[in-house]
Amino acid sequence: MSMRRDEALVELSGVTKVYGEGTGMVTGLADVSLRVGAGEFLGIMGPTGGGKTTLINLIGGLDRPTRGTVRVADHQLERAPEDVIRLLRRRHIGVVFQAFNLLPSLSALENVALPLLADGLARRAAEPRARAALEQVHLVERAAARPAELSGGEQQRVALARALIADPMLLLADEPTGCLDTRTGAEMVDLLLRAHRLRGVTIILVTHDERIATACTRTVTVADGAIVADRRRPVGSTAGG
Ligand SMILES: Nc1ncnc2c1ncn2[C@@H]1O[C@H](COP(=O)(O)OP(=O)(O)O)[C@@H](O)[C@H]1O
Ligand SMILES: [Mg+2]
Repeated sequence: MSMRRDEALVELSGVTKVYGEGTGMVTGLADVSLRVGAGEFLGIMGPTGGGKTTLINLIGGLDRPTRGTVRVADHQLERAPEDVIRLLRRRHIGVVFQAFNLLPSLSALENVALPLLADGLARRAAEPRARAALEQVHLVERAAARPAELSGGEQQRVALARALIADPMLLLADEPTGCLDTRTGAEMVDLLLRAHRLRGVTIILVTHDERIATACTRTVTVADGAIVADRRRPVGSTAGG
């Protein structure tokens, strides 16, 4: 995936997302523009219903804008064919959701290996990489466990390992600590910070937690479908970084 040097990794221009039709129409985002550079750790904050998930879904190609353009690297997502978006997500965009979204019938190892298997890699090539990814989230000893046998914090670490397995350039996380207690939530944030520091992966993270926001290099506040604040932190002030 190539990119011109002067370009942001992610660029939304005049993006509006309207859900439903007729009297049931709801505006998720209204005329939002946003540029995110490679290497940023961006926190999306704001009240429930403000449009944070809508924003993440549009950037991840999980949904398409009603109006406006969404570019990730050199792909215009608003007009990319479905199979191109699928490939982009498999190879270059990792996603972690609040509710983990693991496949219950597969082991932790198989869940992590899934993006590689879906991309056509043989099991014997994918599994060592999945094992290494589980090692990075300190879970390799639970490789054979099914999601139901894991705690919430462990399931979310499996989801993070799966999101990072293909070494994506962009990691999207929608309230990844929302279902976790304070301690396991803090562990998750440490792992995200490590991925940001060691892999240089660009992270866009939705969070309600002020302490998590202080770890970000920039925070954007979304309310009523619009960006109402955009703050950058000076380099070097990143917590734990
Ligand atoms: N699939 C959907 N269908 C209809 N309305 C939706 C849908 N998803 C989100 N919305 C609406 O869009 C607005 C923004 O929602 P969302 O992006 O989920 O906000 P947040 O993640 O900040 O809580 C809300 O009014 C919400 O009810
Ligand atoms: Mg949300």
